[in-house]
Amino acid sequence: MQDRTIWWEEGGVGLIEQTLLPEEYREVVCADVPRLVLAIRRLEVRGAPALGVAGAYGVALACKNALEGHEGDFYRSVEGAAALLRSARPTAVNLAWGVDRVLSVVLTESDPAKVAARALAIAEQIADEDEETCRRIGSYGAELLPDECTVLTHCNAGALACAAWGTALGVIRSAVEEKKIVRVISCETRPLLQGSRLTAWELSRDGIPVTTIIDSEAAYLMQKKEIDCVIVGADRICTDGVFNKIGTYMHAVVAAYHQIPFYVAAPRSTFDPLHTMADIIVEERGREEIASLFGRTTLPDAVPVKNYAFDGTPLSLVTAIITEEGLIRAPFDHPWLMP
Ligand code: MRU
Repeated sequence: MQDRTIWWEEGGVGLIEQTLLPEEYREVVCADVPRLVLAIRRLEVRGAPALGVAGAYGVALACKNALEGHEGDFYRSVEGAAALLRSARPTAVNLAWGVDRVLSVVLTESDPAKVAARALAIAEQIADEDEETCRRIGSYGAELLPDECTVLTHCNAGALACAAWGTALGVIRSAVEEKKIVRVISCETRPLLQGSRLTAWELSRDGIPVTTIIDSEAAYLMQKKEIDCVIVGADRICTDGVFNKIGTYMHAVVAAYHQIPFYVAAPRSTFDPLHTMADIIVEERGREEIASLFGRTTLPDAVPVKNYAFDGTPLSLVTAIITEEGLIRAPFDHPWLMP
C-alpha cells in the first residue's frame, strides 16, 4: 500500500480509489486531466487538502502531456486544463489554491520543458508540505486532548483526505503517538458514508479504537456525556464561518448546547479571507446518492431531493481552529481571517 493518498508516477497521477473502500483497496493512475477531473467529481480522491494536491499534480500533468505534443499549443492547453481542474468541485478552496500555486509559476517561464519540470517540482513540494502541515496541526491539536477521551468526528479528515496523516484524524494520531488514550466516534456521514467507509477503515488499520454511529445518534451520545469533544476538518474557512461536510453544523449546534468543545483542524490553504459564508457556492450532488440504498430504490420517483454536500458553521460555534501555526480562537480576528 502507498504511504500517500495521491502521488506522481511515470504514467500520470496515482491515487487510492476511495469509492471502493473498505471492500477493495485499488490504486488508479490518471493519465490525463479529464480523467483526473472525473476522479475528483466521483470522489475517487476527495477531502480538501488532497484536492489541493490533486489540483497541483493536475497542472503538472497538463504540462507533461502538452509537452509531449498530445494537446496542441502548450500554454493554451495548460491554462484550459487548469480551468477544468479548478471547476471540478466548487466548495473546497484548496483545489483552486493548488491549481493556481503551480500555474502562477508555469506562466512566468518561457521554455515549456523547464515549465513542465518546475510544475512537477512545485506539485511534489505541495504534497510534502501537506504532510508536514498535518503533522504540525496534529501536535498543536493533541495538546488540547486530555490523557483519556472520546472524540466525535464527522466525514473523513484523515490521511485519505490529505497527502498523509490527516487534519482532524492527524490530531487523534498525534495524541495517540503521545500515548494518550483516544477513542473515536465516527459518524457514518450520509449519503456517501465517508465516516464509516473511510474514517473507520483508516483508524482501525492503525489500531485506534473507533466506533461508527449513524449521524443522528450524535446528539444522544452528547446528552449522555459520552463525547468529550468534536474535531472535524474543513473545506473552506470564510471570515464568518467554516464549510465542512453536510451535518457538521448540526453537530456544532448540539455540541454548543451541551457545552462540548467543537474544534476545526485545517491548514492555511483552507482559509478564504476574501469571502463570507453567503458568497460561497455549496456543491449540490445528484439524486441517485439519496434515492437508493444497497441497489434498491428508497424514494418514490416523483419526489425531489435536496443534496447539499457541505454546510456552514458560524465561527460563534467554534471553540478553536487548529492550524499548523497554532490555535485561532474567539474573537477570530486573526490575519488569516481578515480580507
Ligand atoms: O465530499 P468530501 O468527501 O470531499 O468532503 C470532505 C470533507 O468534508 C472533509 O471533512 C474536509 O474536506 C476536510 S478533509 C481534511
